Amino acid sequence: MEDKKKVIFSGIQPSGNLTIGNYYGAIKNWVKLQDEYDCFYCVVDMHAITVRQEPKDLRRRTLEVLSLYVAAGVDPDKNTLFIQSHVPAHAEIAWLLNCYTYIGELSRMTQFKDKSARYGDASVSAGLFDYPALMAGDILLYNTDLVPVGIDQKQHIELTRDLAERFNNIYSPTLTIPEIYLGETGAKVMDLQEPTKKMSKSSDNPNSYILMMDPAEVIRKKISRSVTDSIGVVKYSDEQPGIKNLMTLLNCATGMSFEAMEKKYEGQGYAQFKIDVAEALIADLEPIQKRARELVEDKEQLEAIYRKGADKASAVANKTVRKMMKKIGFIPR
Ligand code: TYM
Repeated sequence: MEDKKKVIFSGIQPSGNLTIGNYYGAIKNWVKLQDEYDCFYCVVDMHAITVRQEPKDLRRRTLEVLSLYVAAGVDPDKNTLFIQSHVPAHAEIAWLLNCYTYIGELSRMTQFKDKSARYGDASVSAGLFDYPALMAGDILLYNTDLVPVGIDQKQHIELTRDLAERFNNIYSPTLTIPEIYLGETGAKVMDLQEPTKKMSKSSDNPNSYILMMDPAEVIRKKISRSVTDSIGVVKYSDEQPGIKNLMTLLNCATGMSFEAMEKKYEGQGYAQFKIDVAEALIADLEPIQKRARELVEDKEQLEAIYRKGADKASAVANKTVRKMMKKIGFIPR
């Protein structure tokens, strides 16, 4: 009998246009892992509403994100691709896990602290606070072994592990304890203007990020304007966070090693290096952009993908919720 494949779950919020941080930190690894694992890749629209969304933008972005998954090479025939709100078990497990999550734990989450500082207390919803319980639920529903994400999600994955262990200890082994998967490079793509900060799709300054759908001339402009330093040497060093980030991007786009880059650009300053980074990103992204533009117009194909995905996901997810409910002491229907 064939060995059962290990399970992967990951997701992206349709709360903005995806950046190359989302691509190199998450999606590109999903593509790499899809043959070896049984993968569930989700558009987490329920997470997106933890901050206010314009309904028509949310609808459009949800389908754009799904199109980008497929366009980037996540094969809908091999993987389960779906939209979170289509599988009600996500809402159910979030409630269950809520009751095993402490306020203290949620208060320590840095993403919550950052976002609540940005939006101000008056508009911080209970959903934003509780978001990690929903995320833990996403992962635990599928008996997930591995979660490929960027490093900013590490704290949420650790909480997920704690919640699963807590549940298993109170009752009996029920939930699989997942592990984080971080790519060798690209797990933290930095802001092009402030390279000590993470690149984010919610930044107010468009020069600070590159979108997966940015046209070539925009990419060239943003890279040429990216903040570097006055040292003038292409070297992978913490003292040169801007250059380190551009080297990371070049590595993510081409696979070229940092040593090879240091050698190639020795004594040349930054001009040619920046041009090459921009061209490498363009070459990596253009085929994806072309496929994504076609796919997002093909509503029928997208519908077929997310419907089939929701059916497959529901079958697994419902089983986990039923198992948990039984252990908790709910009467089976
Ligand atoms: P989100 O939507 O903010 O980001 C999606 C994925 O992109 C990664 N990422 C980055 N990686 C490297 N460098 C960056 N600058 C960068 N910016 C974003 C994120 O780490 C993430 O992998 N809570 C999650 C969504 C989520 C989820 C889940 C993920 C909900 N449920 C279950 C995994 C499993 C989030 O807000 O990601």
